[in-house]
Amino acid sequence: MTIETIILSLELDSDLERAAALLKAGKLVAIPTETVYGLAASAYNESAINAVFAAKNRPSDHPLILHIGQIEQLSAWVADIPAAAEQLAQQCWPGPLTMIFAKAPGVSSLITGGRDTIAVRMPDNARVRQLLSFSGPVVAPSANLHKKISPTCAQQVMDGLNGRIDAVLDGGDCQLGLESTIIDLTRQPVQILRAGPFYPQHLADIIGQEVLLPSQHNIAVAGNMPAHYQPETQASLFARNELVEKLSKAEQKNSSVVVLHFSELAINQPMQAIKMANQRQKYASQLYQALAQADRLHCTEIWIEQPPADWHEVIDRLSRACFR
Ligand code: TXA
Ligand code: MG
Repeated sequence: MTIETIILSLELDSDLERAAALLKAGKLVAIPTETVYGLAASAYNESAINAVFAAKNRPSDHPLILHIGQIEQLSAWVADIPAAAEQLAQQCWPGPLTMIFAKAPGVSSLITGGRDTIAVRMPDNARVRQLLSFSGPVVAPSANLHKKISPTCAQQVMDGLNGRIDAVLDGGDCQLGLESTIIDLTRQPVQILRAGPFYPQHLADIIGQEVLLPSQHNIAVAGNMPAHYQPETQASLFARNELVEKLSKAEQKNSSVVVLHFSELAINQPMQAIKMANQRQKYASQLYQALAQADRLHCTEIWIEQPPADWHEVIDRLSRACFR
């Protein structure tokens, strides 16, 4: 069944109020955050939470992140707030850091995928926090269909979810363009569950403890899938020298490949190219839009130049985007 998806503007007070009213009424509203757009539903409303899973085709055991607008909204949802979490909240919130806590009794297991922990973050956009102070806390997975590319602008949300959700609150392009870092404070040593804009060393410095970054994020959390962030077009990663070699062979005759590269490479027509920034954060911010743009070129393959191994959050997304 399709529903009409309305587009609201984050800048308009009347639209912000309308989005809050929709959320309070159990409707689904895609909201902009500094990372990616999230598909928000009231965290108090179980049928709205179920509708989020249905709209995204998301398996029901994949836990959701609770988004709060003020620090005062935290204590109702978590069993305790460790000292390290207080330090991180002070330094990193509002911002792209999701923390895993022991959940408070009574928190819906729909949010936590049946786990005894809950993920929480406070997004870094004053207007969105204002919305959350009107609507109350929301769950907000990335506003994409299951396994697909996360949206970093309202149009990308519409491309995937038009007709499946009630509204999109358009706040323009997401500044960071890549999902939050997830840190698990419920086990020792503290671990990163998803690499993101906050790097492990920075977090370790704040809490004065070691923070592990597993080279493979294979911790058994539903939602942590090898195939994720996938463009429609088959994508593959190549080291620069491999790519140069492939280009020298394919050049002139191959028009059905688009190359995503960040170093200087001579790529001649009819082969297509998308030039990425060669700086880590800038590259990360461009990644999902570049993959979506590559899809729009309707080539048969995307060849991606492998970024440096220590760009962990970028490598994580790319290896899942390329997984077959
Ligand atoms: O930047 C972000 O975090 C974005 C924006 C919208 O805020 N949200 C986002 O949500 O990326 P989603 O649902 O696409 O990713 C949530 C991730 C999943 O991999 C899920 O497994 C993990 O968070 N997660 C949620 N609750 C968890 C828990 N209790 N324990 C471990 N992992 C959890
Ligand atoms: Mg996601």
